[in-house]
Amino acid sequence: MTFDVARVRADFPILSREVNGHPLVYLDSANTSQKPRQVLDAMRAHQEQYNGNVSRSVHTLGTESTTAYEDARAKIAAFIGAPSPDEVVFTKNSTEAINLVAYTSADFLKLGPGDEIVVSEMEHHSNLVPWQLLCQRTGATLRWFGVTDEGRLDESSLGELVNERTKLVSIVHMSNILGTINDPARIIARAHEVGALVMLDCSQSVPHLPLDVVELGADFIAFTGHKMLGPTGIGVLWGRAALLEAMPPFLAGGSTIETVTMGGTTFAPPPARFEGGTPPITEAIGLGAAVDYLTALGMENIHRHEQEITAYALKALADVPGLRVFGPGTPEGRGGTVSFEVEGVHPHDVGQILDDLGVEVRVGHHCARPVCARFGVPAMTRASFYLYTTTDEIDALARGLEQVRKVFA
Ligand code: ALA
Repeated sequence: MTFDVARVRADFPILSREVNGHPLVYLDSANTSQKPRQVLDAMRAHQEQYNGNVSRSVHTLGTESTTAYEDARAKIAAFIGAPSPDEVVFTKNSTEAINLVAYTSADFLKLGPGDEIVVSEMEHHSNLVPWQLLCQRTGATLRWFGVTDEGRLDESSLGELVNERTKLVSIVHMSNILGTINDPARIIARAHEVGALVMLDCSQSVPHLPLDVVELGADFIAFTGHKMLGPTGIGVLWGRAALLEAMPPFLAGGSTIETVTMGGTTFAPPPARFEGGTPPITEAIGLGAAVDYLTALGMENIHRHEQEITAYALKALADVPGLRVFGPGTPEGRGGTVSFEVEGVHPHDVGQILDDLGVEVRVGHHCARPVCARFGVPAMTRASFYLYTTTDEIDALARGLEQVRKVFA
């Protein structure tokens, strides 16, 4: 099937606006994606027609709202191949999902001095800082995989790095800054061999690739709604049922409980145990609609389209003199997130000139300072693509970069 990008774009109202007198060229989807009308309509319909609190009201609106909220959970479970919707925990975002595991693992993994947690130098801060704090609290040691010059995970020390002291490995599935798609199979096999758990930060992969948690083989994955056509304020922790069962509550409160007396509390089974307070109901419904939209287009088709766009972009950027691309140089094992530096020009200036031309990219350290340090730069400019990105937009980026070079010549 050919991917009809023009038809896709027609579903996204924002894509027809102008920025600074130019047609919008939105190349910042790794930061947050735009939303199709179908998602916006589903959220509006909830607020206008059946808004009510979930899991605590017997009235019609509450019941309809609860049904839609749980339907969204089931859609998301099916989207990632989860054996049961009960393995899908709604959180605020990926960061909260990772923190949930990091905070509770002090208890359920009984961590202490001598234990080790393994991450990588490729992590977004959200998959690094919670583990640093966990190690500070428990006395466990944090270790990490390095990154090769090509921007791949350096697995050469896997056997030594993941060992009998390792209790948990948490790595990124697709890098938000290098675009690298990690194949976690060897790491998962080694971790499970030594009895360690594996968490994958899938914030940048679930929106862009077909993904099945059973095939993937990890124990936990985290991802967020707003990068996959859904709204902000909703994320997902998927975990194996037996592990979620064994974990204590994270943010305790209403909904997380079974019985409460003044003397103590017993807790509800997952996922309710981890969803304290009124959850982001409209946002969950919006994410369910986003999953419907992605499923109808087909994740294979979306991934193929992005690979074509990425190949086109890598070639176009290679033709811009004085430009250094970070991360894998070909689309194999990389997604549509391309970071680069324009020799002698600060990324903030690059971003400003591009914005003047309507081209929206992200500049800075991309919440992944260790990656910038690894490549010896304080910041990078990043263009990131999605199902609505066109080759014309890549051409606009390349023209914008020529303009940057002219201004700074
Ligand atoms: N929003 C962050 C990014 O731009 C994670 O990569």
